[in-house]
Amino acid sequence: MPALPLIIDTDTGSDDAVALLLAAASGLGDVRVVTTVAGNVPLSAGTRNALVSLQVAGRVDVPVHPGCERPMTRTLSTAQHVHGQDGMGDTGLLPDPMRSAEPQHAVEVLLSYPRRHPGELTLVTLGPLTNIAAALVRDRDLLTRYRHVYCMAGAADLSGNITATAEFNAWADPEAARVVLQAARPDKVTWIGWDVSRRDAVMTAEDQSRLERLGTPMAAFAHRVNRTVADWARDVTGLAGYDLPDPVAMAVALRPKLIIEREEAHVDIALGDETRGQLIIDRRRSAPPPNLTLVRRVSEAGFKDLLFTTCAGIGQSGRDLKDIPGV
Ligand code: RIB
Ligand code: CA
Repeated sequence: MPALPLIIDTDTGSDDAVALLLAAASGLGDVRVVTTVAGNVPLSAGTRNALVSLQVAGRVDVPVHPGCERPMTRTLSTAQHVHGQDGMGDTGLLPDPMRSAEPQHAVEVLLSYPRRHPGELTLVTLGPLTNIAAALVRDRDLLTRYRHVYCMAGAADLSGNITATAEFNAWADPEAARVVLQAARPDKVTWIGWDVSRRDAVMTAEDQSRLERLGTPMAAFAHRVNRTVADWARDVTGLAGYDLPDPVAMAVALRPKLIIEREEAHVDIALGDETRGQLIIDRRRSAPPPNLTLVRRVSEAGFKDLLFTTCAGIGQSGRDLKDIPGV
């Protein structure tokens, strides 16, 4: 199977970093370009973290383009209480990026790449949907120009992480999420919500020590950057470990056969104060036609196998991962 040509839009914090490793070092993805957006951390920190993560994956050649520094209408609220002040677990051990960010704005890149390569590129979004919505204002049909669009966003079971019922990416910029939902079609756009991560992508204590024991630079990096998320998971979510929302979304894009359960539905998003960012899933027979495919379950074993083999440096690319620059 040829590697999947990818554009990744990310607010790089600790789990985005692991998703970038999967995309860049599993051999299943061909990362053409990365765009960044404010979300888990401010834009400058997320851009730096994306550059560092690609470096750890051995892909300093991938251009990174910063995008929107704030949501469409709201004040930026980051998740540094979860991912750390630096977004990467505050370990003090991150290498400096060897490459700088590109001058061209992310929104220009999101618009121009699929025009140059119609139907070829898969877009994976791992942060608030601000860049995508801004691009959609310019090109209403943009999503159809991609081969497929996968978004880590929302919580289809209405169990939230930033509020009782809302997931962070959907909550951070709900107006942007609504713009994307209004342009979406179920054959083109798939959302993987936090409900999938909580059920099928939790790194138990055993998984965490297996990752640590791999002893490769990528495994050490993936383990360390999730340090503060592990504390937050213990104190707040009560899961049996920290979960990996962006990596499981990336795994679905790279290997759709991992999906065990999905549904097509008409989905909107709540904008009001009490329900901000909550998904409104209309399953009535009288509902408008579906606009989205929602992934509901993923193979946990398949996801973890991809994670461990990639971090062990035995992805299918055959790349020698022993001498990673800057790590
Ligand atoms: O809701 C989960 C948060 O952690 C989101 O920002 C997601 O993209 C991940 O980074
Ligand atoms: Ca993210």
